[in-house]
Amino acid sequence: HRNSVAKLLLFGATGDLAQRMLLPSLYGLHADGLLPEDLTITGAARHEHDDKDYRKFAKKALDEFLPEDRKDESAIGTFLDRLFYQATDLSDPAAFQPLADKIGDIAGGLAIYLSTAPSLFESAIEGLHKVGLAGETVRVGLEKPLGYDLDTSREINDAVAKAFPEDRTYRIDHYLGKETVQNILALRFGNSFFEPVWNAQGIDNVQITISETVGLEERAGYYESAGALRDMVQNHMLQLLALIAMEPPARFEGTDVRDEKSKVFRSLRLIKPEEVPNVTVTGQYGEGAVKGKFVKSYSDELGEPSNTETFVAIKAHVDNWRWRGVPFYLRTGKRMAARRSEIAIQFKSVPHSMFAGRGGLLQPNMLIIRLQPEEYVQLLVMAKEPGLDRDGVRLREVPLNLSMDAEFAGTRRRIAYERLLLDLIEGDQTLFVRRDEVEAQWTWIDAIREGWKANAMKPKSYSSGSWGPSAAIALTERDGVTWQDD
Ligand code: BG6
Repeated sequence: HRNSVAKLLLFGATGDLAQRMLLPSLYGLHADGLLPEDLTITGAARHEHDDKDYRKFAKKALDEFLPEDRKDESAIGTFLDRLFYQATDLSDPAAFQPLADKIGDIAGGLAIYLSTAPSLFESAIEGLHKVGLAGETVRVGLEKPLGYDLDTSREINDAVAKAFPEDRTYRIDHYLGKETVQNILALRFGNSFFEPVWNAQGIDNVQITISETVGLEERAGYYESAGALRDMVQNHMLQLLALIAMEPPARFEGTDVRDEKSKVFRSLRLIKPEEVPNVTVTGQYGEGAVKGKFVKSYSDELGEPSNTETFVAIKAHVDNWRWRGVPFYLRTGKRMAARRSEIAIQFKSVPHSMFAGRGGLLQPNMLIIRLQPEEYVQLLVMAKEPGLDRDGVRLREVPLNLSMDAEFAGTRRRIAYERLLLDLIEGDQTLFVRRDEVEAQWTWIDAIREGWKANAMKPKSYSSGSWGPSAAIALTERDGVTWQDD
């Protein structure tokens, strides 16, 4: 895969993502000697900066967002030497010539990272095309949101496709850059004992939770028009679902992995409008306490009443041979009790309990894959409590623990964007989302939104610091299933 480019062009170079994630990630790769030696990084945004200003800007971002133990002044110095800047108005396709001049020769390959409002994608692509920055040696990385629904995502994809064929288009879902997310594949396909029970015979239900404690942050404009379904489910949660549900790919390689994920998305059962109220729950946070601190309600943060959902729970089905009848429960929300990304896989109960008459209660086995904040895999198994009980056996659920944090304590935790930026630079598409995936995801999401509209569903209020509206608990309890870890 090492088909490295010599130049990187970063649109949105002064934005929030650049400061928090992209610059620290690029620095991380630089400090570890992973970037091509001569790689230059040119930032572009509307602000009038010169190279020197931008280096100062980047230095400030690194000072603020790099963990202390990663700050190495000499490495920071050599990293800043790689940075250049060209003010560019992305909304004006005629204004790209200075940028092209600044970048110069692209025979050695150019990777472009578009981290800007999607409303600028079309004009940016046109501008790049006009000045010859979209030729065969150029690849483009696209940050979310890639559209608002199927139609708008098609518009964006069509605009991109005019200049960049699919094999040079890298759609970013930063969850795929997370180590623990890639670890799902290692667990499933690097071990022999999961696969035989990884199906409707062995698995009762799958629960995927991404809960956050943060609220609206500084993103009212974007979030208010997106909501939790578009912001988290369409991309991150469905990607997690696909990694759990997909068939074994023949190779860990772009085409094979994405073919299998795509099949999962196409197998998602479209939820009919009349079913939507029964299998989806939406919520919006009210005021409350998060980690002991009072926080305002969503509408108070926003400054006006709103019907945007900050929480959503969905019961989904993958209609194929392997997953017949197995519910996939998804839930995500802001201002919840804890920050947690987790997949809990509940296995079928034993067919017969020989302990039943002797007081032993059995819990079904669970496999818990905790993606963050901690990184671990736990298999909950039944074991006998030590003791000489006369009237029976006492059984208890205990975890078989694989703590990634402890096992790999010597290795640095990487930012998800390090993996993705490196893959973009080196030309490996495995962890990027293909157009057919995105479109199948939107098709499923749009059906849910249509159902909300048809039923005039409004988000239910939930207290900040809780696990969401009580209807989300009822969603699983009706099936006799309890959300793991509430
Ligand atoms: C982003 C969403 O894609 O993912 C944010 O836009 C969300 O709303 C974030 O906070 C969560 O990412 P992570 O890596 O912190 O789980």
